[in-house]
Amino acid sequence: MLAQALAARANAHAPYSGFKVGACLRGESGRLFAGCNVENAAYPQGQCAEASAIGAMVAAGDRRILECVVVADGPGLVTPCGGCRQRLREFARDDTPVHLGDSNRISRTVTLGELLPLSFGPDHLKK
Ligand code: THU
Repeated sequence: MLAQALAARANAHAPYSGFKVGACLRGESGRLFAGCNVENAAYPQGQCAEASAIGAMVAAGDRRILECVVVADGPGLVTPCGGCRQRLREFARDDTPVHLGDSNRISRTVTLGELLPLSFGPDHLKK
């Protein structure tokens, strides 16, 4: 998963921030889905790496995230933005592992529940 996240990250389109991010998800089928951030000259239209990976997973037919890797090179540990925590929540559970790292290694693993406590999710809309 780390290798796929890094390969996607290498293709990131981040000419404005210069901050390349890669993500890789393992879906319930066992398949891996990678994505990178895709920035846009109209800045708000940019897309995060996690969103790209989720799009690839959904397009391929999987609907559950069993595990997730996010990699970027920052001064400290890079964690998913708030919006992407919620995007992951749509397809993952509180105990889903999210592995965080950089070009060299995974340096920390947290759960989605730690990243997004007391979250709002699909179950809240069940009647
Ligand atoms: N970015 C991601 O791809 N994922 C995150 O969780 C945090 C931020 C991207 C968006 C933008 O292209 C760049 O990093 C700087 O914010």
